[in-house]
Amino acid sequence: MSKIDRRALLGGMAGLATLTAAGCAGPRSAAAIAGRAFPTAGGPLSLPPEPALDPETRLTRIGIGSCFHQGNEGKLLGTAIRTRPDLFLMMGDNVYGDTTSPHVDELKAAYAGALARPDYRAFRAAMPFAAVWDDHDFGDNDAGGDYPYKAQTTPLFFDFWGVPADSPRRASGGIYDAFVTGPKGARVQTILLDTRSFRDRFKASDEKGAVGKERYIEDRDPAKTILGAAQWAWLEDQLSQPADLRLVVTSYQLVADGHGWEKWGLFPAERQRFYDLVAKTRANGVVLVSGDRHRAGIYRETGGAPYPMHELTSSAINMSWSWDMQPGEEPGPNRIGPTFRQNNVGLVGLDWETRQVAFYILDENDRTVLSHGFAMDALKA
Ligand SMILES: [Fe+2]
Repeated sequence: MSKIDRRALLGGMAGLATLTAAGCAGPRSAAAIAGRAFPTAGGPLSLPPEPALDPETRLTRIGIGSCFHQGNEGKLLGTAIRTRPDLFLMMGDNVYGDTTSPHVDELKAAYAGALARPDYRAFRAAMPFAAVWDDHDFGDNDAGGDYPYKAQTTPLFFDFWGVPADSPRRASGGIYDAFVTGPKGARVQTILLDTRSFRDRFKASDEKGAVGKERYIEDRDPAKTILGAAQWAWLEDQLSQPADLRLVVTSYQLVADGHGWEKWGLFPAERQRFYDLVAKTRANGVVLVSGDRHRAGIYRETGGAPYPMHELTSSAINMSWSWDMQPGEEPGPNRIGPTFRQNNVGLVGLDWETRQVAFYILDENDRTVLSHGFAMDALKA
């Protein structure tokens, strides 16, 4: 296991200071964001002064989380702050604002509701963030490219996450983005995928509720897409860029199998295309993080991929499902250890001396409930 062990996570704050000292100052986006009016259904609110990520930061701790309901308790927000990440990745369902109205007032109110909470504002002010969306902040449950109000919900996402008005990210038609952080030898490329704006409909289950077919079943039509043509071309370009480790953020799971909820595996050709693109571009260091599932898990895939693909899923910050919604353990088959079905956040630890990656899932009592470590240098195409 890495030097970044459980004691370093939450116990020894003196040790943490050295791990995090290089991170997160910078007036640029803080000044741009602080005090900026945010239009809401109930009146304007301001975003908290979120620290900017210094591009020279040698990332050693990346927090992850998903599925935060603006009306629920927020104990995990405190846990996330106490892990002192250099960067926190929100992986979707960042608020719950499902709306079938062209005015998207429910989503505006959801964003305003989050920003009205002192604990949420403290969370956003504690560290730099990057985000993707999932269905409930895209606009509707399990929605995809045919969701009729994405032109209205897209700018709300950018405003809420402090994306500057002149950012090229706003012109893509989706919300995908990528950026590199850290010096040569410790460059982390963060790739934020948009799994909603261009996605075709998944095939509905012929046995709804059955294990492995809960909502959807595999669709082997090779024409069906998750990312869409433009995002695939962009991704090929991104994976061709030099990096020492790549964190690929996908709102719903890519590696995980063994269930019939939304996942890349429902379009097997599209998932294989991802693995093939990693091989074609010889992109080393790909590690996946995901949310959406209302449970946490650690997964590792070797079939079809040029090297072992590891995925850390963290869900939910405060929307864990009751046991009768999702009873029992999932079959796997490519999971390491059990799933964790209570509220949680995750942390990816990067030890650049031992060149180890460490995955952690923490519960609302700040305890590590799942963990797994592996060597960076094994992630080579
Ligand atoms: Fe979701």
